[in-house]
Amino acid sequence: MSIKLVFLFTLFSFSVLGDGDGNSGKYPIVVSTWPFTEAVRAAWRIVDSGFSAVDAVTEGCSACEELRCDGTVGPGGSPDESGETTIDALIMNGVTMEVGAVAAMRYVKDGIKAARLVMEHTKHTLLVGEKASAFAIAMGLPGPTNLSSLESIEKWGKWKENRCQPNFWKNVEPLHSCGPYHPKGNMDLGVAACSQENLMGIIESSSSHIGLHNHDTISMAAIDKMGRVAVGTSTNGATFKIPGRVGDGPIAGSSAYADDEVGACGATGDGDIMMRFLPCYQVVESMRQGMEPILAAKDAISRIARKFPDFVGAVVAINKNGVHAGACYGWTFQYSVRSPGMEDVEVFTVQPLNSSCNLICNK
Ligand SMILES: *[C@@H]1O[C@H](CO)[C@@H](O)[C@H](O)[C@H]1NC(C)=O
Ligand SMILES: *[C@@H]1O[C@H](CO)[C@@H](O)[C@H](O)[C@H]1NC(C)=O
Repeated sequence: MSIKLVFLFTLFSFSVLGDGDGNSGKYPIVVSTWPFTEAVRAAWRIVDSGFSAVDAVTEGCSACEELRCDGTVGPGGSPDESGETTIDALIMNGVTMEVGAVAAMRYVKDGIKAARLVMEHTKHTLLVGEKASAFAIAMGLPGPTNLSSLESIEKWGKWKENRCQPNFWKNVEPLHSCGPYHPKGNMDLGVAACSQENLMGIIESSSSHIGLHNHDTISMAAIDKMGRVAVGTSTNGATFKIPGRVGDGPIAGSSAYADDEVGACGATGDGDIMMRFLPCYQVVESMRQGMEPILAAKDAISRIARKFPDFVGAVVAINKNGVHAGACYGWTFQYSVRSPGMEDVEVFTVQPLNSSCNLICNK
């Protein structure tokens, strides 16, 4: 009798522990960067009624585009240097490893739907610029649409008045006007690439452009009732970016990654830096090697922080058991989760890794 009791008690405590961690270990589950709770609710309704993870992230990211989450997703935000808003988006099916993405897409507001059209109706992975817009419109999305808003135009006007500061240029002259910019000195392009600053290995950061109210990306992961994994991202990029700039948003492995056998990851932050490290690919591969989500997330962020101590960013990881965790650096990060054990979407807060102890005491 006592053996049976111990056995029951053991089962019971495991399930209690699991709930205490916020991980019920059951599908479906939806995870998103930031407190984008309406987007997560929209995705949850889809997976909870039996539709696929791909459908869920499409619906969730679409909701964020329509709500213009933080002004950094969908139309009407993040004007570039010429005042225009463009869209970057990606979707990935972790069952087939198919990816569809659009980058610097003009005149079309439905980023995630355009990305899905690329994934499902072409053999390509990424379409860019005006050609991406033409594709999306030809495939039935509304457009051409003016993606500017009164707010984005006003913001851009103020930036122009402030002599176009801050901006994303470096090693250029004139330093204190709105351009046109030229490489500093009389160097040709080849010499400029080997400028003294680069030789000295000084690493510059554009993190000052990313603030608490410039969250910059929705990156969402879903696991549906059948255990299928998908991720989606959508953003209008960095405010006052140089026209043509594409960030981490539409880059598979950087802003998001999904593999049915392992789990998924979503990222947000200083995309120009993060895309050099493919942090979400790193997170998923670490989990494949057996690392828990929390360690995989911290490891991916630490790798970037060691090279760019001023960068700002975060990742959220989820494995096939429904265990989720986040890690961040340079700012406090929040991510949203909806799983069967929850009454509604729950928001988790993650404290930044501590650089003063070389990121080791956080491990
Ligand atoms: C687009 O919309 C903005 C904000 O409403 C407006 O200032 C701008 O003139 C419009 N552009 C065009 C080409 O209609
Ligand atoms: C970072 O860690 C060090 C050593 O443990 C501690 O003294 C310091 O207060 C921490 N800083 C923050 C911001 O947590």
